[in-house]
Amino acid sequence: MCGIIGYLGERSAAPIIMASLKRLEYRGYDSAGVAIFNEADGQTSVVKSAAKVDTLVERLTEEMPEGRLGIGHTRWATHGRPTVINAHPHTDCHKQIMVIHNGIIENFAELRKDLQARGHVFISETDTEVVPHLIEENDQGDLVAAVRAALTKLRGAYAMAIFSQKDPDLLIGARLNAPLVVGIGDKEWFVASDITAVIPYTKKVLLLGEGEMVSITRLGPEVSTIGGASVKPKIIEVKWDISQAQKGGYPHFMAKEINEAPEAVSNALRGRLTDEGEVTFEEFGLTDRQLLKISNIKMVAAGTSYYAALLGKYIVEDLARIPVEVEPASEFRYRQPIIDQDTLVIGVSQSGETADTLAAIREARERKSKVVSITNVVGSSMALESDGVIYLHAGPEIGVASTKTFIAHLTCLYLLGIRLAAIRHRLAPERLRELTAELKTLPEAVQSVLDRAEQIQALAKKYSGHRNFMYIGRGINYPIALEGALKLKEISYLHAEGYAAGELKHGPIALLDGGFPVFAVATQAATLEKMVSNIQEVIARDAPVIALVTAGDHTLDEIEADRFEVPEVSEFVSPIVNVVALQLFAYFVATERGCNVDQPRNLAKSVTVE
Ligand code: G6P
Repeated sequence: MCGIIGYLGERSAAPIIMASLKRLEYRGYDSAGVAIFNEADGQTSVVKSAAKVDTLVERLTEEMPEGRLGIGHTRWATHGRPTVINAHPHTDCHKQIMVIHNGIIENFAELRKDLQARGHVFISETDTEVVPHLIEENDQGDLVAAVRAALTKLRGAYAMAIFSQKDPDLLIGARLNAPLVVGIGDKEWFVASDITAVIPYTKKVLLLGEGEMVSITRLGPEVSTIGGASVKPKIIEVKWDISQAQKGGYPHFMAKEINEAPEAVSNALRGRLTDEGEVTFEEFGLTDRQLLKISNIKMVAAGTSYYAALLGKYIVEDLARIPVEVEPASEFRYRQPIIDQDTLVIGVSQSGETADTLAAIREARERKSKVVSITNVVGSSMALESDGVIYLHAGPEIGVASTKTFIAHLTCLYLLGIRLAAIRHRLAPERLRELTAELKTLPEAVQSVLDRAEQIQALAKKYSGHRNFMYIGRGINYPIALEGALKLKEISYLHAEGYAAGELKHGPIALLDGGFPVFAVATQAATLEKMVSNIQEVIARDAPVIALVTAGDHTLDEIEADRFEVPEVSEFVSPIVNVVALQLFAYFVATERGCNVDQPRNLAKSVTVE
């Protein structure tokens, strides 16, 4: 979705806003714009570009606008094509009020019609443009009151930053169903879509709650509800630093983040798993008694997180023997789900802001279910709105395609499975110790896959000319086949399908021929022989095979296939090791094809519209 940043302080706003926009670009990158107010002449410079932030930066570098107050926006188009006119900021008839927005104003069409009938002139096709006009209409000298009045007329989702030339010592932020934080520096303040944007300037961050607004003057921020009730600000100290949000010598964020997989496992495990297999989560929020009452679990998620949740079903059902259903969050909400106070609903989301998943957990809470979210973003909407939260502790993930957070999600799901199993006495101490030891050796196993990335690169080079790929897996590695296919299509724009290997013969095998490679997850498993039969069926249709196999396992020796060996780990934890190989394969195919892996076309990292 869109990224927004606002600055009020003592320094020149433009360079800070440009640098912040670069860090927010993962949220959307089809056009960008800034508005900087110059107190010397009382004028605002608005500069926009119908391309990525870099183009805007080039234009601004030629002529840097002066001023200590400003806002900037990087867009992921919803209403209106990515043109200069549709790029934010948007303004009122008198070009006094500047607004940037992330989200969707659902009732914009009727508001626009009414405003036009009252003489307001619109120049863009966006939903956002109604906002400055509504503020203008309600402006009787008190900008905060005018913004409040305007916001109460909006339906939908928004995170906004607003200023007016008439009141140049005031920066306003507001949020409803979209994220917004306030960075608190030394005599300077920032409003931003996320912490990454402000982290080089301050680690002190005010988390704006749902339906709240902040008015920042040179005396500091004041938080209130949109309705006007004053709110005690929730301020946190961020624990990670900017180096974690930089490429650190890697050509892409995605490469860096795949290489952080061992750390992602270690960080998710740290302090949570004793050698005896006892699991504790710091902010879990639910007691053992409450957990014992749970008779079924629903997991809701989107995209890559949905596949993590699918794996969660295998893990939790196997360990704790509680029935788990997994559903795309966008479907769950609109079909009257059968859940009640004995259901635990688990929201799985890297960002904690995905609109579909957030709506699904809200629905669950309304139906009296207990809700736990597993997310990477501290203070995200899902974290704030759940009974309990399990943080991934994976550090910022900037690449649009999730990699290390998928690994961290899986790690947390193993821990949750163990915790649920323990309170139900479902795990023999011996099995628990074994599993604990396996989880603790995973970082090393993952590292050994990363150390042989060149071999995967060679395979990727060999296959990058193909247009279609099939991924197959069985059992706990079936969701990994789905995720492998998703990763490839997201970043290389190639057609890739994931299938349960046993299902191949029931339809998709008709697609296969010499030009349709099949990537088989064929590591050691109870069903490996069945997988071998499926691979034989593929070979009999002349389709080339790439097989992920366990080092030292000779089951596939006689099979005509390209192979990549992963270290031996138990089948139960193998998804974490296997998926790293598939992430690398997707990454190398995409880079081989010259695709922008960090910012794939049409995608955004955090989708805050339904
Ligand atoms: C977007 C991204 C996907 C991501 C999905 C869910 O569609 O492009 O890569 O998996 O959102 O995101 P979440 O933050 O909820 O995990």
